[in-house]
Amino acid sequence: MISRFPIFFLLLFCSAVFPWLILIFKSEKQLLTLSPATLEQEEYLYERNTGKSFDSPDDYAAYISETGGDAAKALKVADTAVPEWEAKNNTRAKARQPLLKLKRNVDGEPAYPHYKGGAAANGKAIYQAQGCFHCHTQQVRQKDFGFDIARGWGQRRSVARDYIYDSPVLIGRHRIGPDLANIGTRLDPNDLHRHIYRPPHGSNMPAYPYLYKVQKIRGGSSKHAIAFKKDEYGAPEEGYEVVPKPAANDLVKYLTGLRQDYELPEARFYPKDEPHHGDDHSDDSHVEDEGPKVDPKILSKGKKLYNTAGACVTCHQPNGQGLAAAHFPPLAGSEWVTGSEEVLTRVVLNGIAGPIKVAGKDYGLVPMVPTIWVGWSDDDIAAVLTYIRNEWGNEAALVTPETVGRIRSEVGTRGPWTDAELEPYK
Ligand code: HEC
Ligand code: HEC
Repeated sequence: MISRFPIFFLLLFCSAVFPWLILIFKSEKQLLTLSPATLEQEEYLYERNTGKSFDSPDDYAAYISETGGDAAKALKVADTAVPEWEAKNNTRAKARQPLLKLKRNVDGEPAYPHYKGGAAANGKAIYQAQGCFHCHTQQVRQKDFGFDIARGWGQRRSVARDYIYDSPVLIGRHRIGPDLANIGTRLDPNDLHRHIYRPPHGSNMPAYPYLYKVQKIRGGSSKHAIAFKKDEYGAPEEGYEVVPKPAANDLVKYLTGLRQDYELPEARFYPKDEPHHGDDHSDDSHVEDEGPKVDPKILSKGKKLYNTAGACVTCHQPNGQGLAAAHFPPLAGSEWVTGSEEVLTRVVLNGIAGPIKVAGKDYGLVPMVPTIWVGWSDDDIAAVLTYIRNEWGNEAALVTPETVGRIRSEVGTRGPWTDAELEPYK
């Protein structure tokens, strides 16, 4: 009975001291040879704490010095540790490579996409968790596959190499919203925050207010607060400010890193402002084939407006086919579009609700209520109408700004039309 106690204490002693003994005897090299996963964790904390980015070996060296380490030694260790680690555990370690040895192509440009580690890696997880990929793609299609380039979504097509460090690849399948492959070149962090916190009025994109904190301004306003324009949609009440939570900051870090703004050997930039020649069949090519009936300037203006984020393209799609599943009817081959300009102009100015037939199919579960184009000028509306009447195989006479102006002053502001109400104008 009595002899059990010393054994118990001996066991207790060993379990408390043993881990320390391991640490004491572990070699310095082993301690420095951090696994890439640990490096990633460190990098994440560093980015969060300092707000600096961590994209190159120099950043890494700076980080080591700042945290009291020997930068040269750490770089050397990392240089050998990572390939070793990589050899053993293939996937995640690969992502470390560009950080430690940025590869360059012949022109000295990075030959691989920027590694999105640290905060951006966490932001990617948030992009996934919030389901952004349900509505956004990250792939710029080549010129003869739609008009991504014409829309300004990229300067070149996306290629396999762009996704080399992505696992999983968030290329997306549906384009309810614009492509985000180059969103980092289009919107700055403040604009991104504003968009995610509260998308523009009339947008189909959900708001993500829970990624932000609305707080009373005490003393001075926070330097992290989102800058809104005066009276902007979504701006907080007087005396309050909107501050991104860490998750929102990480998400924006990820988005600003989405940029394919360098050339790759297999994907060079398309020449700028090249007139649309035969290589772009889905575009205005029919205008060229048959000789311009309508001033191409009006068509390109209309096309730009049509494709504005939140405008017609959101529902009727880039190819004018609509989205049957969402009850958005097609504009391509629609008699509403190519028929009476009196009807078409009214539909677009005020909207349309209730059952209608478009190209032989029934629609009507969702009304069309004008949003951002309410503020467009007569010139703008006329350009969009002329564009949809002469795109995707449609052919009809142009609509003049004068016609739009006359109809606008007749109808004033009113709710959406019904099919029956439009009968007299057909
Ligand atoms: C239900 C579909 C949907 C979801 C989910 C969605 N979006 Fe959007 N998004 C849109 C639509 C539609 C637009 C275009 C209208 C607008 O500007 O809001 C858009 C626009 C954007 C824009 C502006 C693009 C530009 O070119 O100006 C950004 C940035 C964006 N979304 C990011 C996100 C992020 C980040 C998430 C996830 C947190 C997300 N979206 C989730 C539909 C969606
Ligand atoms: C938020 C989604 C949405 C947006 C944005 C939108 N529409 Fe529509 N549109 C609809 C829906 C839904 C209908 C069908 C309404 C019904 O069934 O009564 C429709 C119907 C139409 C029709 C008549 C039917 C047809 O398919 O020809 C035209 C023409 C039209 N829209 C043009 C436009 C133009 C031009 C714009 C941009 C200025 C635009 N729409 C923006 C959703 C939208």
